[in-house]
Amino acid sequence: MARLAGKSAVVTGGARGIGEGIVRRFVAEGARCVIADIDVAAGEALAAELGDATLFLRTDVTSEADIVAAIDACVSSFGALDVMVNNAGIVGVTGPIGETALDDYERTMAVLLTSVFLGTKNALPVMVSQGSGSIINTASTAGVQGGLGPHVYTTAKHGVIGLSKSVAVEAAPFGVRVNVLCPGATLSSLTAGLVTGDKDNLDGAYERLSSKYAGGRAPKPADMANAALFMASDESEFMNGAVMVVDAGKETLSDRAAKFYPIPTR
Ligand SMILES: NC(=O)c1ccc[n+]([C@@H]2O[C@H](COP(=O)([O-])OP(=O)(O)OC[C@H]3O[C@@H](n4cnc5c(N)ncnc54)[C@H](O)[C@@H]3O)[C@@H](O)[C@H]2O)c1
Repeated sequence: MARLAGKSAVVTGGARGIGEGIVRRFVAEGARCVIADIDVAAGEALAAELGDATLFLRTDVTSEADIVAAIDACVSSFGALDVMVNNAGIVGVTGPIGETALDDYERTMAVLLTSVFLGTKNALPVMVSQGSGSIINTASTAGVQGGLGPHVYTTAKHGVIGLSKSVAVEAAPFGVRVNVLCPGATLSSLTAGLVTGDKDNLDGAYERLSSKYAGGRAPKPADMANAALFMASDESEFMNGAVMVVDAGKETLSDRAAKFYPIPTR
């Protein structure tokens, strides 16, 4: 299948984890991708593996100049910017709010929220001039609910959703869509670091994460890439300002409701 035939995309944080999964799936569906990441070794290795359909550009998403360079590289090398995936992320500062230093707050917000502002801001005019485009911003289930992540992470992810909904209104008349992907706990080095303390312990992390899912299997980056593929393709033409939670209902189906109002059995 080639659901993204002829399209070109920038994927920030595209060298590893969910972003890597998105790049792999987009390319398999006929797209060309700029892998925009600070991890030069992983980004170059992925681009070498995937070949001419990809281009790696060292990009720090906290730098507007870097974001603009990634977008320019997509247009000059692949002819357009059809899809902008603002996905790069970190866990950032953790701990009680009273012990959170302002510097750490600002550093975390820069990677998780300012980056999405910069990516959205600079992708939009290019897409408006084309008369089409899909901006996909990665938030989290921690963007729709408190208590699932550290304070600043949760703050930033709620901000990603607010920014996306707001810009969706401005973008709509020009044929540009802005939607949000909210992954549930997904296997990656980010979650491996969180649940095992070792970002390289993917097997251990997968076991622990899977035990939290009713179906006994945690999602992998490829599962998030399926959702991103829909949001990038013309199949989601009527989806704008939407928040797509992809967590198998883990955080978002209320078990409280089930307790108060038991599901009737036949
Ligand atoms: N894995 C999960 O369970 C989960 C759940 C919800 C949301 N998310 C979000 O998904 C996104 C991807 O996370 P992941 O799990 O794939 O993590 P990951 O650590 O596997 O990958 C993150 C990528 O972002 C890159 N990156 C980090 N800082 C950057 C910067 N300043 N500039 C450019 N690139 C940078 C890293 O080099 C890496 O390639 C993040 O926004 C994260 O918050 C992840």
